[in-house]
Amino acid sequence: MIVAQLSDIHADGSAARLQRLDQVLAWLRPLRPDAIIVSGDLAEFEHADSYAAIGDRLDSTGAPYYVVPGNVDDHHAMGRVFGPQMGWSDRRPLNCVGAVGAELRVIGLDVTVAGAHHGDAAPVLDWLATTLEADGPPALIFQHQHPFLCGIDEKDRNICRNGDRLAQVIKAARNPVLGLTCGHVHRPMFTRFAERAATMAPSVTRANRLRLDGREPAISDPPGLLVHHLKDGRLVSHVVMVGS
Ligand SMILES: [Fe+2]
Repeated sequence: MIVAQLSDIHADGSAARLQRLDQVLAWLRPLRPDAIIVSGDLAEFEHADSYAAIGDRLDSTGAPYYVVPGNVDDHHAMGRVFGPQMGWSDRRPLNCVGAVGAELRVIGLDVTVAGAHHGDAAPVLDWLATTLEADGPPALIFQHQHPFLCGIDEKDRNICRNGDRLAQVIKAARNPVLGLTCGHVHRPMFTRFAERAATMAPSVTRANRLRLDGREPAISDPPGLLVHHLKDGRLVSHVVMVGS
């Protein structure tokens, strides 16, 4: 069972941003993922056209896909393109749930806050708790903003707030939660959250440099993705950078 995770495409109406997406999808196609999740910030300008272009490209993979919004997304325009297949009504939050075969559920949480770059889990906690009560296979939760401190200078200002309450809901869930994965900081990372694996996908758009404790390299990273592989109940997440 293979779930590919793309994040932070930041389409803006230019060909260059979509070329980076094409590069990532060209790498991904032979892997024939069972599902694709996109953890937010699909478009930052020219939203309607950008979502249509991204939707066409995701459709062309033949894989079912699930998306959640990020802080630069336009909920209304996103809902018009992806709403019918995500089962969204016209209102926030734009959460989603998908079955990937009989072995995995993906749960997309919309933790965005209107007009803000940080996120907040509090408004979706009841929905998540109810969703995790329903019978079903183990879940992989995905969202845009990171609910854990990432340590990169300045990026933790725009964290997903109320991460402690989110962790409580995950820990109390009747059904197993394998892990949580996100985007937003434009860097791949691996840590623990709610006593589970927590990952962040690299960005499709330009990466942020790894700035730790005031030190940083001069060279940025190429576009990339995460490949989550589930076998015999064991989840292993692979990071892939697609050279430019
Ligand atoms: Fe973001």
